[in-house]
Amino acid sequence: MSAAPPPLAAVLGWPIGHSRSPALHGHWLRRYGIAGHYIPVALAPEDLEDGLHALARLGFRGCNVTLPHKEAALALAAEATDLAREIGSANTLTFREDGGFLADNTDAYGFVANLRQSAPQWRADAGPALVLGAGGAARAVIAGLLAERTPEIRLANRTRARAEDLRAHFGPRLSLVDWEAAPEAAAGAATIVNTTSLGMEGQPPLGFGFHAAAPAALATDIVYRPLDTAFLIDARRRGLTTVDGLGMLLHQAVPGFERWFGRRPEVDAELRAALLDA
Ligand code: ATR
Repeated sequence: MSAAPPPLAAVLGWPIGHSRSPALHGHWLRRYGIAGHYIPVALAPEDLEDGLHALARLGFRGCNVTLPHKEAALALAAEATDLAREIGSANTLTFREDGGFLADNTDAYGFVANLRQSAPQWRADAGPALVLGAGGAARAVIAGLLAERTPEIRLANRTRARAEDLRAHFGPRLSLVDWEAAPEAAAGAATIVNTTSLGMEGQPPLGFGFHAAAPAALATDIVYRPLDTAFLIDARRRGLTTVDGLGMLLHQAVPGFERWFGRRPEVDAELRAALLDA
């Protein structure tokens, strides 16, 4: 009898060259001595359904999906977690015996797990949160904060209509703030989150006045390139605790790795260093 084939997983995106997921999963596979493989696959949007069938037929345990597949993958799923439905997109797919797949979204988990690990004194229910931005990342952050019993979320977005859509979707625990008035809305907030792309390499910085924020508050940025953004630097100057965005990327990968490769992996300084070198 032949030995069991090595476990396989992938990340699908279009393009895919920038994805850090192969380095992340590859690090864990080597570290835990698991004879599995995790590969990047460039897949055009019109090929997603066929591509997923092919991976299932080839015996892959599952895959991550990134831009632009996250909404389409949820629509194709045989079953989906409550969080994936609430966020409206999937990033972690696990194939079933029948060829269908379970769609999950682990970004909300990754966001909260990063804050728990990096700022153990932080409590989501300690007070309101101020969330800047209303894109896909904001949906995951809001779902994570609401699941952790954040009593109120103040949402500010340059394009107000997108914030209104999220208010309609997530309900009355969200209140809308004008983009220009966001610094004032930091008053009394326990958690302040940048989910916009401002501050990312190649983008203008997010100049945010933390004058109204309490020094006991926590500020976090989902941008991780660069690690230390102007938003975080300004927050630290005012005395706030800050957490960078790299940890969210690392933690969101934990549930998929555990499902596909059978071991819950650790997020630690060694993994961070490996990713920063990659
Ligand atoms: P993602 O899915 O990664 O969150 P996205 O859907 O493109 O990405 O959302 C990007 C977010 O950054 C949005 O909230 C966007 O604001 P708009 O909805 O007004 O576009 C925000 N953003 C991008 N560039 C911005 C800028 N120059 N000023 C203010 N907000 C900006």
